[in-house]
Amino acid sequence: MPTPRIVRKRAEMRDLIVTNRALGRRIGFIPTMGSLHLGHTSLIDRAASECDDVVTSIFVNPIQFGPNEDYEKYPRDLHADVHLLSQHGVRWVFAPDVQEMFPPGDSTRVEVSGPAKPYEGTLRPSHFSGVATIVLRLLQSAPAHNIYFGAKDWQQILVIRQMVRDLGIDIEVVTCPTVRDQDGLAMSSRNAYLSATERKRALVIYSSLRQAEKLWCSGVAINRIEQELKKMLSAQEIQIEYADIVDAKSLLKMHKNNPNASVIILIACRVGSTRLIDNLLLPSQTLSSC
Ligand code: PAJ
Repeated sequence: MPTPRIVRKRAEMRDLIVTNRALGRRIGFIPTMGSLHLGHTSLIDRAASECDDVVTSIFVNPIQFGPNEDYEKYPRDLHADVHLLSQHGVRWVFAPDVQEMFPPGDSTRVEVSGPAKPYEGTLRPSHFSGVATIVLRLLQSAPAHNIYFGAKDWQQILVIRQMVRDLGIDIEVVTCPTVRDQDGLAMSSRNAYLSATERKRALVIYSSLRQAEKLWCSGVAINRIEQELKKMLSAQEIQIEYADIVDAKSLLKMHKNNPNASVIILIACRVGSTRLIDNLLLPSQTLSSC
């Protein structure tokens, strides 16, 4: 497969997309922060199966990191990323520098509310405003037909869908399933921070989600399931930030089982100093999948 073209400037990126749209080509866009893994490439493969051309952005977005977060040490390797992308049929890699996306004097931000308020929004107050701002700017440079996101960052998808609705952005938001390592750990660029023993301990995140799913399917009360989840995580010395069973659309806490609601378990925790998030959509209790 041909090597993707690396585009550094917003105007050039936009021209390429607009020109190819005018030729009747369907464009799929996958925004990323790089340090790519199979979770990212699953989004790209989905886009390639649905679109004529795929554009991926690689940009570590400074404004979605809090002051004490890992912006400086976030892993960056454009060369390795482009090599991986060349094997997945990506046509363009949009890799602007910080000045290009946030020129000196820049002062405009997307203000978010609703699904951006609880959970990550409480713990990382400016995070989703930073995500929404960069996704909107990236979309202005890469006005694709479809944009792809991973279910691993569930709340992020809700925030983006809300922004797309509220601002009337003409794009289809596609949600793709979470990709896991064979042992169940959700793939994440931040897994690179884990030591071998921390990585082993982190496996309890997925096993606790699956155990909770079993209890859910046997009709155990939600607060009992949450207790069990927290017990399993704590037993591996995982520091829990939240481990809640919530309505998957509103993110409101569920107090009793409602067979008609779409329900998700959300977890954020620290393994050592590494912050990890994961989630599991629960099957409907009325279906045979339970
Ligand atoms: P990043 O963490 O690089 O993730 C880019 C996309 O890959 C997101 O949609 C994320 O949900 C998806 N992804 C990550 N790990 C995944 C996995 N294990 N399985 C499936 N999909 C996975 O999310 C961001 O970047 C940024 O917030 C961004 C949207 C690019 C804005 O800066």
